[in-house]
Amino acid sequence: MRSRVAGTGSYLPSQVLTNHELARRVDTSDAWIRSRTGIRERRIAAPAESTSDLALHAARAALDAAGVAAQDVDLIIVATTTPDMVFPSTACLLQAKLGARGGPAFDVQAVCSGFVYALTVADRMIAGGLARNALVVGAEIYSRILDWNDRGTCVLFGDGAGAVVLLPSTTPGIVSAHLHADGRYADVLCVPGTLSEGQVAGSPFVRMDGGAVFKFAVTVLAEVAGEALAAARLTAADIHWLVPHQANIRIIEATAKRLGVPMERVVTTVERHANTSAASIPLALDEAARDGRLETGQRVLLLGVGGGFTWGAVLLQW
Ligand code: UT7
Repeated sequence: MRSRVAGTGSYLPSQVLTNHELARRVDTSDAWIRSRTGIRERRIAAPAESTSDLALHAARAALDAAGVAAQDVDLIIVATTTPDMVFPSTACLLQAKLGARGGPAFDVQAVCSGFVYALTVADRMIAGGLARNALVVGAEIYSRILDWNDRGTCVLFGDGAGAVVLLPSTTPGIVSAHLHADGRYADVLCVPGTLSEGQVAGSPFVRMDGGAVFKFAVTVLAEVAGEALAAARLTAADIHWLVPHQANIRIIEATAKRLGVPMERVVTTVERHANTSAASIPLALDEAARDGRLETGQRVLLLGVGGGFTWGAVLLQW
């Protein structure tokens, strides 16, 4: 038994924050942000919205697309770095909001690689008979862990959620997965804080060595894409769509160039969404699925990279 993506969904909060608006708050400019990152605007969650609320909207859209009723959802995995609370998991909170019960529910923490990690676990749980179906969500509210005075990080991120529903299948929809991590690079991209004795110990904000992240991302994304292609005995020419993590258009373009995939076959949303961490890949996937770019039978390669460091690829047959 294998699994396949039966439906996708996504959600963006309604508030748009443009580069021009940001430039009024912090020493930056639309020209700098656009030329260095490709980002034009990002979405910001409303004060009353939680990560599980964003996840709920995306989940409902994916369940509708898959024709699965919310109460029939079995496994729920939420990939998030910005959970509603320390515990219970955002997945458990989402399960209750959906009106589902009894199936396993848990969060995956692999930062911007979280969605490819979660998708892999869900696929293997269906294949192993541990789940009848799965709802896999990437949902983030990064706006709440950014230092809005730090122009080096606050211009890069946004809020949103994306989801897929996996159903059992005799033909492989998820063809292969390749996941990696190297904890020696933990300091390069982190939120170095925790809760202790009733207070935040350390910093609750994103800290990043942008240059180091940039170089690492370009190297490992091309490497893991090569690994996925070699395992399937394919070349880049056999890939119909590349759906990479949306951190920076220059990272995406450098990866596509190294692989020899033209940008016309790369799904990009970074201009409008900025970096939504674990949500970026399912947001991009949903956009391409809904506007008809993804066609049945096509090969889609998802590429994730993020804090940890973590990185990975999932090859899909659509
Ligand atoms: O999911 C993974 C999450 N993280 C990433 O993907 C980030 C990866 N890294 C990057 O995207 C890029 O390294 C950045 C966009 C963060 C930075 O771009 P860069 O071309 O590497 O710029 P830089 O860090 O070399 O900075 C160049 C200059 C510096 O000024 P000086 O020292 O040359 O005078 C910065 O202080 O740009 C300055 N700068 C800014 N200027 C205006 C840094 N941030 C800003 C800003 N606006 N927002």
